[in-house]
Amino acid sequence: MATYDIHNYDVLVIGAGGAGLRAAIEASAQGVSVALICKSLLGKAHTVMAEGGVAAALSNVDERDNWKVHFTDTLRGGQYLNNWRMAEIHAKEAPDRVRELEAWGALFDRTTDGKILQRNFGGHKYPRLAHVGDRTGLEMIRTLQDHSIHQGIDVHMECTVTCLFKNNGRISGALAYGRDRGNFKLFNAKSIILATGGIGRAFKVTSNSWEYTGDGQALAYDAGAELIDMEFVQFHPTGMVWPPSVKGILVTEGVRGEGGILLNKQNRRFMFDDIPELYRNQTADNPEEGWRYTQGDKNARRPPELLTRDHVARCIVREIKEGRGSPHNGVFLDISWISDKLNNAEDHIRKKLPSMYHQFKKLADIDITKEPMEVGPTTHYCMGGVRVNADTQMSNIPGLFAAGEAAAGLHGANRLGGNSLSDLLVFGKRAGEYAAKFAKENSQENINDEDVRAQISKTLAPFERTNGENPFQLQYDLQEMMQNLVGIVRTQEELLQAKEELSKLRSRYRNVSIIGNREYNAGWHTSLDLANLLIVSQAVNMAAIERKESRGAHYREDFPNKDPQSGTYNLVIYKDSNGEMQIRKEVIPEIRNDLKQIIEEMK
Ligand code: FUM
Repeated sequence: MATYDIHNYDVLVIGAGGAGLRAAIEASAQGVSVALICKSLLGKAHTVMAEGGVAAALSNVDERDNWKVHFTDTLRGGQYLNNWRMAEIHAKEAPDRVRELEAWGALFDRTTDGKILQRNFGGHKYPRLAHVGDRTGLEMIRTLQDHSIHQGIDVHMECTVTCLFKNNGRISGALAYGRDRGNFKLFNAKSIILATGGIGRAFKVTSNSWEYTGDGQALAYDAGAELIDMEFVQFHPTGMVWPPSVKGILVTEGVRGEGGILLNKQNRRFMFDDIPELYRNQTADNPEEGWRYTQGDKNARRPPELLTRDHVARCIVREIKEGRGSPHNGVFLDISWISDKLNNAEDHIRKKLPSMYHQFKKLADIDITKEPMEVGPTTHYCMGGVRVNADTQMSNIPGLFAAGEAAAGLHGANRLGGNSLSDLLVFGKRAGEYAAKFAKENSQENINDEDVRAQISKTLAPFERTNGENPFQLQYDLQEMMQNLVGIVRTQEELLQAKEELSKLRSRYRNVSIIGNREYNAGWHTSLDLANLLIVSQAVNMAAIERKESRGAHYREDFPNKDPQSGTYNLVIYKDSNGEMQIRKEVIPEIRNDLKQIIEEMK
């Protein structure tokens, strides 16, 4: 029988991207003991894939911007399924969180008069994204990491959590294994914050790296927490499509924010062909006006390339399906055309989009200052996740909190670009604060040795089986199936087929076997990740079947319109007393009158 080490903390933060780091900093500042667990190395996080900027109504570039406009944009982008209290808190607190980050050393690009520079992004009415070229997420992680190092937080790297423990209905700790030596660690904790990011690895084409297997969502679900909005998976419109080895890598929306245009193989700006009613009066109907908007003309309307991601992704899919795509099943994204408009265009592009310049030069041998890129949608973000209280970020399990992409509510049916970074700062801080408060007010619950040993046996079970299913093959089959049947365009028939396939995959999973020892065993790690991927995939599929309409990122070809009735509820996923996954509709609480008035005014 394997042994385990025991660690004791007041607050345990699982996940060390932006949300986890911000939460750990805050909890530690409240004077409690904090541990931060990262699945890979500190600093390697999907946060860096939010490249183009952090959304906050600083109104440095356009004085008409304020929290009310940001709040309204976020709700409109989320098609009014958002938790409106979260949207209010987010819009109000984002500017302070960005300034605080600057005070901690983040180096943002500057306006000519020395303020933090802000750029345009899809669905944001005014230039709102504070940025550092196209490396904003990276700069944020660097700053948060530097700051956290001075806080006395214990960091456990290359460590993966396999289950949460509860006692008397409250959270009591977590079991983890070290990826390097395969040793087990038991963490006793009074409160736990899940900040494990998204579920991108459930799909074949994704901007997410290997760590993003829905761990937080699955751990929470298994422990009895509720998940919400799982049908809404964001396919970012622009990922690389060629060469095959880099398919899915993100091409920042910042390219379009700086004036990049989308073209089909007929050289047509197809985004002008389909402007949704909701955004018609905010969208330019000719290229010249769109260009003026990207150059800061306050009287111009935004180009259609800066419509929300769900819409842009679907337009790209339509072009490809109807035979007007680029050679490698994408469309063209062109920023080089601005050399017709600006004298110093090449320098300008290299300065504004340095990572994109290098990414395409190195990986695809394309000089983006001279030629168009080929791009297509890539799974980027899950709007769904652990259901939390808007103010405290606590789930329905006392002592269990979630923040960042692992949590849900703020973004509704579709997230606006840049709102992920402000989300993780605003709600990471709140999760840290309230988790620390909970830890101060509650004692440590007990964890039985027997329960720990039972969990360890479960974790080691794949070693006991021989000639079973190969975990890599299983993961490949799952990703292929989810991409094909639960992707950007969905139908009842395909979703039901996916349901059956998922059931077969779950049976196959019960027979997964691995060889070798516990040290750096990628097969073993994949087999454990698979348990989480299967849970979140089932949740996405179940919610997608239930929502018989098209809204935001959830598009049903068989129900192509929004259904007013369906716009009144969220879908909640939970585990019943027999361990089966269940779903229920929950009516969205009526919006507060003052907020309702703001939405009316903004119209
Ligand atoms: O396109 C981007 O830079 C991504 C930003 C985001 O996901 O928020």
